[in-house]
Amino acid sequence: MPVIRFVREGRDVECYPGENLREVALREGIKLYGLKGTLGNCGGCGQCITCFVEIPEAAPSGVLSPRTPVEDQKLRRRPQNWRLACQALVQQSLVVLTRPQIGMPSKDDAMAAAMVQPLPAGPTEWPREPDAEAESESADGAPEAMDTATGGEGT
Ligand code: FES
Repeated sequence: MPVIRFVREGRDVECYPGENLREVALREGIKLYGLKGTLGNCGGCGQCITCFVEIPEAAPSGVLSPRTPVEDQKLRRRPQNWRLACQALVQQSLVVLTRPQIGMPSKDDAMAAAMVQPLPAGPTEWPREPDAEAESESADGAPEAMDTATGGEGT
């Protein structure tokens, strides 16, 4: 269901409920890190403090999972609407600014415009495993022959 609107990149990216924001960004080729994080990051353990993202202050509550204790500690000197992407799980469609520590011309206007445009509907459920699809297709076919020769045995 969620769609992530990456403002700096001008892209809407679909994901599934509960996906990790960092993993979605990296999968989609979104540049999440500044120079320091590009040179070296913790791989999503919440230790390097380089995967900052900014969520608009006007965003509804609950678009991401609540701040973790790691974020409370690591982001205590940062704005309240900053998150660590590696600690955040996407719950609902939202607008995200990557690398908020790096300036962006007309950032406030871009964020406001991104909030005004409706977010498209994303997927509604996790994709099925290929094996599950094959099993489902065979289940739709003719029923297997039942062994009726055992009826009445043992009496
Ligand atoms: S990737 Fe290191 S804190 Fe998020």
